[in-house]
Amino acid sequence: MKISGTTKVYGVIGCPVEHTMSPMMHNFYSEQAGIDMAYTAFPVEEGRVGDAVRGAYALHIGGLNVTVPHKQAVMEHLQDIDKDAEIIGAVNTLVRTEQGFKGYNTDADGLWRAMQGAGISVQGRTCILIGAGGAAKAAAYVLAREGARKVYVLNRSVEKAQKLARELNEKLELEILFPLSLSAWDKIEEEHCLAVQSTSVGMYPNMGEAAIEAEAFYQKLDLAFDVIYTPLETKFMKLARAAGAKVSNGLDMLIYQGVVAYELWNPGVTISGETIDEVRTMMIAGLGGKAG
Ligand code: ATR
Repeated sequence: MKISGTTKVYGVIGCPVEHTMSPMMHNFYSEQAGIDMAYTAFPVEEGRVGDAVRGAYALHIGGLNVTVPHKQAVMEHLQDIDKDAEIIGAVNTLVRTEQGFKGYNTDADGLWRAMQGAGISVQGRTCILIGAGGAAKAAAYVLAREGARKVYVLNRSVEKAQKLARELNEKLELEILFPLSLSAWDKIEEEHCLAVQSTSVGMYPNMGEAAIEAEAFYQKLDLAFDVIYTPLETKFMKLARAAGAKVSNGLDMLIYQGVVAYELWNPGVTISGETIDEVRTMMIAGLGGKAG
């Protein structure tokens, strides 16, 4: 990669942000496509996101990814917000426009593309979403948007599950999200469900944990998707696999949220399946011992 006076600069803002793999992905796409852009990581402390957005605009930064802890706080500093991101209530990608940055949420479409790649169907299915944090909101939106029959939202603190379900039902004018506490999974009567695990439980280095440990829970599942990718096979996935479900990890969600962002920044550019396969191999190597 050759950096010159015409190179357009992109990056990710977050705190901490030093260990991000996004520069590896985005710089590889630019190299492959011969696009004159460079992507790096910008540490931005909590409370400074407004300064960062204004500064980035003044510096003619082409676009930014936004990660923890700024995904919600960034929203009030934007010129415009895409409809999906508005409904989810979080932004992870900024695209430069004439008037300012426009915010998008590519986690949702990243998850959707990863699910499609794994052959996961949502239409008409009963879904079980574990967690009610930031990642869960994007997942709940995708499940509702793609035609789930019902989405049980299970969370340790049931109030957060209630809030997520109530708000999304209202925004989408649906009545398909139902909150439950994590321990009330046995109230779910359906079988052949799709479960999306969106808590941090089981993530490196706490690999021996799963938000739900009961083997009987996993008998209800045909499909199990974990948003975690360190390790590449979580305890949740092991339990689901042992019960006969088809399992997927969150690595492709991470990759595709980047692909969707890259395509938003470079209209008309599509990243080939071959390039994505190469990136997946690079990412797994980059994860090292955390991959498990
Ligand atoms: P993210 O943006 O990664 O989704 P988050 O918004 O902090 O992170 O959400 C973390 C999720 O993991 C929440 O659903 C949280 O449950 P609570 O709302 O009850 O805190 C869940 N979580 C974290 N640690 C957990 C644990 N030990 N057991 C069960 N759930 C846990």
